[in-house]
Amino acid sequence: MDEKIGFKLNGQSVSVTSDGARMFLGVLRYDLGIKGVKYGCGEGFCGACTVLVDDKAVRSCRTPLKDVKGRNVVTIEGLARGEELHPIQKAFMKRDALQCGYCTPGMILNAYSLLRRDQNPTKAKIIDEMSGNLCRCGTYARIVEAIQDAAREMRGEK
Ligand code: FES
Ligand code: FES
Repeated sequence: MDEKIGFKLNGQSVSVTSDGARMFLGVLRYDLGIKGVKYGCGEGFCGACTVLVDDKAVRSCRTPLKDVKGRNVVTIEGLARGEELHPIQKAFMKRDALQCGYCTPGMILNAYSLLRRDQNPTKAKIIDEMSGNLCRCGTYARIVEAIQDAAREMRGEK
């Protein structure tokens, strides 16, 4: 049954009238036009659909719409501050940590979630925490370097 569900999306209050059991990925892409969130596997295995809910990375393909009611949702479209890219976005560009870019929004948001919890993760921890996000183009080494760069910048070391 349809219900009105309100939440914050990239700093704006929005509401959607829909079946609360629908997966959030479809609501974002098709109802709200947020195309930075990607459909990969649709089954929770690839991380392409990752968004932040209250600063925690979640897989929107496995998250029912009702679970984001009243929560603060950020997609890749909401990470920059005006014209100023987030340090993780800048580091991905500087390190050329993407090819086709399909996995990139999910990678960056998962990295954001990691760096919120741990400002100085080891390389092993980065690899472990990012292991659920798949990149068909195989840019893993550069992704890890970009996250290390971003962590340093966010700690004020450069
Ligand atoms: S599309 Fe959600 S994890 Fe693959
Ligand atoms: S850059 Fe193409 S899937 Fe990762």
